[in-house]
Amino acid sequence: MEVEIKNLKKVYGEFTAVDVPYLYFPSGSVTAVVGPNGAGKSTLLSLIAGLPEKSGGQILYDGDETPPLRQMTMVFQEPYLISSTVGKNIAYPLRIRGMQKEEICRRVGKLADELGLGPLLDRRVRGLSLGEIQKTALARAVSFGPELLMLDEPCASIDTHATLEIERMLLKSNMERHTTIILVTHDLAQARRVAGRIVLLNHGKVVECSEAERFFRHPDREETKKFIEGKLLI
Ligand SMILES: Nc1ncnc2c1ncn2[C@@H]1O[C@H](COP(=O)(O)OP(=O)(O)O)[C@@H](O)[C@H]1O
Ligand SMILES: [Mg+2]
Repeated sequence: MEVEIKNLKKVYGEFTAVDVPYLYFPSGSVTAVVGPNGAGKSTLLSLIAGLPEKSGGQILYDGDETPPLRQMTMVFQEPYLISSTVGKNIAYPLRIRGMQKEEICRRVGKLADELGLGPLLDRRVRGLSLGEIQKTALARAVSFGPELLMLDEPCASIDTHATLEIERMLLKSNMERHTTIILVTHDLAQARRVAGRIVLLNHGKVVECSEAERFFRHPDREETKKFIEGKLLI
């Protein structure tokens, strides 16, 4: 699915959290959205997910303004899991889509294995580690093969091993199903590992949007150079 943003605004009172004249996410692309705290990354992502009311502008999903909710999904920074088992959480989107039980079992088992969740399928989610919670949320998100997958800092505060498992799953979903992925991350190394395109946000505005290679090697903007060097943006 492609996503096109035109004159998108989100204001809270006097404060403008997002002000994006134009931004395009091609079908099948993996884009990392980076930027300092408070830049508007989460707000932008949740607007694309169709959650808060826009203050103005348009978001087009394959040219259509109605968000195709059944073909898209978002993994939140602090995912909400159903108070049940890991397996039931992953199965949930398949169950509500009326899939046959055997097919659900097969898919859930495969996803769990790929993410190292196999031994945890019957565990209740209460008491899971943060990494296990994020992996369960991701498995649930990709289980039904969404065309648009949005993730808000899915690897903040989890270990390297779980991070790499998550990245591998994202790339697999992108390669096999052509899933369009928008990943908010504060981790530039992660952006470099997984994303083909990078969007740098600051103060709710797009500073630079370019191919990863160009973004990191020959950024157009001085602000991007500073950000990559780890300097504070004003
Ligand atoms: N519901 C809200 N009410 C008022 N201000 C908000 C609200 N949500 C976000 N903001 C503000 O919008 C700005 C961008 O927030 P956010 O999108 O969460 O940034 P990021 O994810 O880049 O850290 C911040 O200054 C934040 O305080
Ligand atoms: Mg955020």
